[in-house]
Amino acid sequence: SKGSYPTFMLKEIDEQPAVMRRISQAYLNADGEPQISSELLQALAQADRLYFVAAGTSYHASLVGKRLFEKYTEIPTEVGVASEFGYHWPILSQRPFFIFLSQSGETADSRQVLVEAKRRGLPTLLITNAVNSTLAREADYVLALHAGPEIAVASTKAYTAQIAVEAVLAKALGEWRGIDAAREFDLQQQLSLAANGMETLVSDHETWSKIAAEYLTAVSDTFYLGRGIDYDVSLEAALKLKEISYVHTEGFAAGELKHGTIALIEPGVSVIVFITEETTAAHTRSNVQEVRARGAKVLIIASQNCQEHTDQMILPALTSELMPLLTGVCGQLLAYYATLQRGLNVDQPRNLAKSVTVE
Ligand code: F6R
Repeated sequence: SKGSYPTFMLKEIDEQPAVMRRISQAYLNADGEPQISSELLQALAQADRLYFVAAGTSYHASLVGKRLFEKYTEIPTEVGVASEFGYHWPILSQRPFFIFLSQSGETADSRQVLVEAKRRGLPTLLITNAVNSTLAREADYVLALHAGPEIAVASTKAYTAQIAVEAVLAKALGEWRGIDAAREFDLQQQLSLAANGMETLVSDHETWSKIAAEYLTAVSDTFYLGRGIDYDVSLEAALKLKEISYVHTEGFAAGELKHGTIALIEPGVSVIVFITEETTAAHTRSNVQEVRARGAKVLIIASQNCQEHTDQMILPALTSELMPLLTGVCGQLLAYYATLQRGLNVDQPRNLAKSVTVE
């Protein structure tokens, strides 16, 4: 039930700090060491390449997964959109390992790839919120998200839970392989910081409502921009906004804008920019100047280490690999309020179903 909440989506957005703490408790012991079965770690450690396969928001969480796994395990990692992968299998490495992300565990596009991977005798793991689902029965290994039921069509807490569980597994596998970065990764502390940071963001409803009113009312199109991990989140934030508010929105790699899409920038367009990567912040700032000069309304969401005094939103502190736990929540809140302000059905957008069981 929604309890005292007006919508499931708002309830699920608000639950995210608790989900972070639950994942920390479920997967980390008192010393902060990840508790993953040695059977799974052994199977993963034999892989020369990991293949993430998923759809929609789960695909976007997989993009973050690639960054986490490459940093903490040093195993090359690929990410595929399930509906593409299923019909266009890439040439696989010698010892591939498949990781499926699916909140519902029922997505037909993802299942198609899982069935074929099994037919080929390849090892498979499912990370899911539904441990009794179809995909869970079929995968060799299953890890639970512990997010609790997600009812709103737009996925929120499953996205951040997927990233947190990816971080647990990446740390566990990296340590298993003796990677220093994994050993030094204080995940317990980071998940606690993430939970606190999310709490700060979700408790500030008035600010988000105001920002949504200022930047997302009466806009023809919206673009989310970022580089690196901020680009991954731009794709997710754009999906969230377009699927419930029906505002035409795209996520772009900030540097790609000048290769074509900047032609669309004019007054009436809003641009939302994530800047949490120190190494690329200056480049993204120059993209901001370009779109401002062409009349776009620009909202900047920056981390503390990248902030400038004119930025509208500064994020609580968190390690850069886990920033999507905070920037993702910003995208959810903006989508939520933009939709509410349009008087639309937040929980059940048109044309969409919670589980997509057709290919
Ligand atoms: C977007 C959304 C969808 C799902 C996608 C995959 O908010 O909910 O994009 O993420 O249909 O669903 P699962 O994760 O259940 O496989």
